[in-house]
Amino acid sequence: MLVTKQPMLRHFWYALFPMHDLDSGPKPFTLLGEDIVIWKKTDGTPAAARDRCCHRTAKLSKGYVEGDNIVCGYHGWTYDCSGACVKIPQFTTEKIPSGAKIEAYRCVEKYGYVWVALAEPLRPIPDFPEEGKPGYRRIFQLYDTWHCTPMRMMENSFDNSHFSFVHKGTFGDFGNPIPISYGLNETDYGFEAQVSVSVLNPPDAHPITGSTEPRVTRHMVNRYYLPFCRRMGVSYESGIDHMVYNCATPIDDERMVLVQWLYRNDSEEQCSTQKLIDWDTRVTLEDKYILEATDFDVCMDTRRREEFHMPSDKPGLLIRKQILDLMATRGEEEVHRGNLAEREAASA
Ligand code: FES
Ligand code: CO
Repeated sequence: MLVTKQPMLRHFWYALFPMHDLDSGPKPFTLLGEDIVIWKKTDGTPAAARDRCCHRTAKLSKGYVEGDNIVCGYHGWTYDCSGACVKIPQFTTEKIPSGAKIEAYRCVEKYGYVWVALAEPLRPIPDFPEEGKPGYRRIFQLYDTWHCTPMRMMENSFDNSHFSFVHKGTFGDFGNPIPISYGLNETDYGFEAQVSVSVLNPPDAHPITGSTEPRVTRHMVNRYYLPFCRRMGVSYESGIDHMVYNCATPIDDERMVLVQWLYRNDSEEQCSTQKLIDWDTRVTLEDKYILEATDFDVCMDTRRREEFHMPSDKPGLLIRKQILDLMATRGEEEVHRGNLAEREAASA
């Protein structure tokens, strides 16, 4: 699947970056191959539009914010948050040409992040129950570009076979490669996957797990949210909840941004924010290292037989099926490198 060729994916919300990144002015972002500019309005909420001035195409992200509007840095044409050009500084009596506008996109703040949908969303931004729950703190962990497709990142999130290999430097047990399978329940947002796994607990992980035992059990209630969000909800026997949320936001066919934040029900004294960021970054970089070595064109339709499977791939195959089923309801088929030329010729 080439993500930029599937219009259905434009109909979802994606987390881009923490809201405070907009404090220093407008920011560019490429979402599903679309260059957009995001800025902060006077009421503190974000706005998004196409990052291309309709005068001489300059990127508006090189401009500045004036009130609620974005101003082009080239000749000062000014756009409101609906994308309409509202000021042309060189004009005295002339009227702004009708049609002088740029496309505006849906943009909101949630969980401290800027979220954008390029087209009418098919699903709301997922509801994460730990947000604002008494006793839980939220920690921004990662906002990192990966040279891989979000499909691989999502599948990897539910793949219990990779711990022993990819994470042998942290919690994975290299000598014990047989995975425990998930209990899977399909839901309206995707699925929930439950499992309890025993993992290694090296000294660096003790503040994270709240245990000094050589092994700990992770009771996991993980959730997949169509198309590229997930929760890894870990409860340790120490009573600590370690709830990781990710949005694997597609930049283009070959790159994504891994947005990751965490909820913990302990205190800063028990485990510092920096320790939590350092540990989870270390684990996540182990995933990144191998995922960047995979093919970005995931074979969604398994009848194509480009990849072989094993039982622990079941959640990943369910992700592929749910995305394909949703595309089918919209009359959309998988576009991949094998049929791209043919599809483009047909739509020309
Ligand atoms: Fe933007 Fe001229 S290119 S105002
Ligand atoms: Co991993």
